[in-house]
This record gives sequence, C-alpha cells and structure tokens, in this order.
Amino acid sequence: MRTSLYILWLFSLNLYLARGYEGSGYSPLEDDEDAAYARSRYRNGDAPWCSPIKIKNGHATCTSPSRSYYKTVKGTRCNIYCQKGYELSGGSQVICQSDKRWSSKSICKQKRCPTLTMPVNGGFKCTDGAYFNSRCEYYCSPGYQLKGDRIVSCMDSKSWSGRPATCLDLEPPRIQCPSVKEKVAEPNKLTARVFWDTPEGRDTADGILTDVTLKGLPSGSDFPEGDHKIQYTVYDRAENKASCKFTVKVRVRRCAKLNAPENGYIKCSGAGDNYGATCDYFCMGGYELQGSPARVCQFNSEWSGAEPTCAFMNINVGLKNAVEFLDQFYEKRRILVISTPTAADFYYRLQVGTLQQAQCGLDLRHVTVIELFGVYPTYIGRIGRRLLPPALGLQLRLLLRIPERKFQMVVLDKHGVDKERYAIPINNSDLFMLIDTFPLRKDEMKFQAEVGHTCI
Ligand SMILES: *[C@@H]1O[C@H](CO)[C@@H](O)[C@H](O)[C@H]1NC(C)=O
Repeated sequence: MRTSLYILWLFSLNLYLARGYEGSGYSPLEDDEDAAYARSRYRNGDAPWCSPIKIKNGHATCTSPSRSYYKTVKGTRCNIYCQKGYELSGGSQVICQSDKRWSSKSICKQKRCPTLTMPVNGGFKCTDGAYFNSRCEYYCSPGYQLKGDRIVSCMDSKSWSGRPATCLDLEPPRIQCPSVKEKVAEPNKLTARVFWDTPEGRDTADGILTDVTLKGLPSGSDFPEGDHKIQYTVYDRAENKASCKFTVKVRVRRCAKLNAPENGYIKCSGAGDNYGATCDYFCMGGYELQGSPARVCQFNSEWSGAEPTCAFMNINVGLKNAVEFLDQFYEKRRILVISTPTAADFYYRLQVGTLQQAQCGLDLRHVTVIELFGVYPTYIGRIGRRLLPPALGLQLRLLLRIPERKFQMVVLDKHGVDKERYAIPINNSDLFMLIDTFPLRKDEMKFQAEVGHTCI
C-alpha cells in the first residue's frame, strides 16, 4: 500500500513539473486537497490515471470504462469540442493510455477567414484581422462607388458574411460638342468643307478615357447638301460612356434652271443651277450665238448676263467669187454640192428624196446642201429656199470641176477640202459614215454625246 501511494506521489510531482505546458490542453490536479480526496477513493480499483482534461475555448466529454466516477481512469475516452469560432487542431478523441498519457494533444484554435483582397481604387479596415467575428468595412476612392457589402464579418463557417465590395467607376465621363453654324456650299460645288474642334471628354474618376468614337463624317470632310448628324461618344476605363450630338447643315444656293436656246444647247458645270455653276451656250452647226456665251449662277441666286440666242448663220449669197463664198463656211459647215442638169433628173430626184429623210443627221453633222441646176447658158443655184446668182453657180461648178451635163455630188469638209464625189446617188448611212471620218467630227461627236444631242 505504501508503495502505491509513493508511486502516486511521484506521478503527481511529475505532472507538477510538466506544468510549464501552455495554451489550452490538460492541467494537472490543482492542489493537494483534491489529491487527498481522490486518494481516499482509489481503493476500489479505478483510481485516476491520466491528468484531468481542460480545454481552453472548448470542452471535453469523457466516458470511462466500467462507468467509473473518475473521468481520468485508464481507458477513458474523451471527445473534444471547441466553442463557436474555434476549431479543433488534433484528434477529436483522446484516450487515457497505460503510460498515463493521453493519446494525443488537441487544442481549439480561433477560426480564420480567407484574407480579403484589397479592392482596386479603395480599401477596408477590420476590427480583428481575418479572425472569427472580425468586422471589416470597405471604402472607395473619390469618384468610385462601392458595390457589394460595405461591411462583412468573419463567420463561424470560416467565410465572410456578404459579398466583399468592389469600387466601381459608375459615373459617366463628361463631353460637350461644339456648335457649328449653317454652311453654304462652296462656289461651283454641292458640298461644303466643315471643320470643328474635336470635343474633349473628362472622366470623373481616374481621368482616363479609353476611347472616343465618332458617328458621322469627321471634321474637315466635304459635306453634301442637307443636315448631317454628328455624334461623339467617350468611354472611361470602367466602360461608362457619354455622348453628345450636333448637326452640320449645308445649304446650296441655287438659280433657276436654264433652258437650252432654240437650235442650240447648253452645257453646265456642277448641278447646273447651284451657286458658281457656269453654263456655256452652243449653237448647232450653221447657227451663230448672239449674246453672252456663258452665264454664271451668282450668290444672289441670279444668273449673270442675258440669255443668248442661236441665229442661223448669215450666208452672203451676193458674192460672185466662189472661193470667197465657200470661205464663209470655213470651220463652221460642211458642204454637200448636188449638181444636176435639170430638176427632173432621175439620180437627182433619188438623191434628194433620200436626203430628205435624214435632215436631222445632216444638221448633226453641220452639213449645208447647195443645189446647182442647169446647163449653159442658164444656171441657177440654191441653199434651201435662198437662191444663188447664176454667176456664182457657174463659178462653183468651175472651181469644183463639176460636169454640167450629168448628176454629180461633191462632199467638202469644214476646211473646204474636196473629200469625195459621187456620180450616182448614195444612201444616207454611207454618206454619214464618210462624214464621220472628217476633221473636227470626232470632237463634235464626243460633245454631242455629252449633251445628249442625237437623232433618234
Ligand atoms: C447603203 O449602200 C451600201 C452600198 O453602197 C450597202 O452596202 C448598204 O447596205 C446600204 N445601207 C442601207 C442602210 O441601205
């Protein structure tokens, strides 16, 4: 008996010496009174064996074998529980072993939530770091708005209550568009070149704009007549946007449309009636322009000058010299001389009948038809209804070497050059094909195509 008491005493001393052990865990018996009290009850064979358990921030629930009063007898099993906000480190069950030690060391540690990340353009302050029950409050830099939960706390589940906040730039940037005055199209144009200063945007948060987009034509463009909407949109880094709009108005000053003169045509620049447009007047072959050859649409919407007319060229039939007579047509008209002994000549009638069907084609090709009749000593000639004196008819036949006793047709170009002659009638398509190879004709055809002067 003494021996067993001695051993018990040694064990207590041993525990006492081991008391330097800190933190939550097991404490040895508190004092000798407890030991003495315990000692009196050891006799029935289930004496305390391991040191009693005390768990800081938690508790242990122990079950001893054979339902002993003591919860520290050999073989006692204790389940360790931690209080709210604490978690177990080590096994959840310890057993009092035969070496008088508990099978493992278990402690309750304060729980921790994951470290919060700093929001960009803001921050937070916590009452107790990332530990259980710590409250963290977020704040944002000026110009930014807090999104999410302003306050979060570390919960028992080791997660934060709510959604950690972010700082967002929700405020749109600012932009102001210029005002552009109405523009009048430039002279001889239907457009106006319009300039303005690109509006500058300002951001309310970090002052950084990522993009400026333009809807519509850029400054310095040629704007056609009408209203043109221009819109600028700026974006900040948070993709907030702001827009502004303005209208570019372009007006075209116009004069009343001009009509082509009779026996002539008109060729205008631009739209033909806009400010600065110039209209040039032309007369068909054989007609001469009387009046100003060009008119300009002025800023006051009036045409300069007066309307010209096309008068048939003044052919002097009183000349006796054939060379002088033909000179009048120089670079103005081509000449078709039809010579016949009598108006009853079959070839003559056939040829004149054919030509009558192509008056437009002759006009288009600036052809004047001169008819010469008779045999010595009676001569006569005519241009349309105007008669030529007999002497001139004779002179022409001599100059052009035209025999007087049979039908003959001579074609002269605008330079008076004798290009072709026919002893029998020809059809109009052959005649026109020939004339279209003459000098000046190429330019005439080009011009006539431009102004739409054709024969249908
Ligand atoms: C015109 O006459 C020529 C022969 O000189 C002939 O080949 C051509 O088919 C004629 N054209 C017309 C349209 O009659």
